[in-house]
Amino acid sequence: MSELVRFGVSLEKPLLDRFDALLRERQYTNRSEALRDLIRRELVQREWREGRDVAGAVTLIYDHHKRDVLSKVTDTQHDFQKVIISTQHIHLDHHNCLEIIAARGKAEVVQKLADALTSIKGVRHGTLSMSSTGKEIG
Ligand code: NI
Repeated sequence: MSELVRFGVSLEKPLLDRFDALLRERQYTNRSEALRDLIRRELVQREWREGRDVAGAVTLIYDHHKRDVLSKVTDTQHDFQKVIISTQHIHLDHHNCLEIIAARGKAEVVQKLADALTSIKGVRHGTLSMSSTGKEIG
């Protein structure tokens, strides 16, 4: 583990009060851990902006009965097999499927994968969770 460094932060009282309220809402037990997460969130956003190696997950909801949806979702995943680490398919009910596609690679390629999947006709909802390989967020 890296050496811990303490530093002082000066904040206006109303801003600190809002920060503390936010910490309680998010169930943080101390300011340091909340601040670390805020910094990491910024660093992860920068990794994506700068086109670094990233990791993330695409989540899709679709009706597998809808014409061609399943084959298009599968075809797209084969097109991006170099960045896909794993895929999990959950049958939510008789119609709806939840698919979680974990990916790792260049940010723009993972973004293209997410765009290609969520724009397929018949995919009702799609999100990309932008995360990190963890190597550069301390
Ligand atoms: Ni299914």
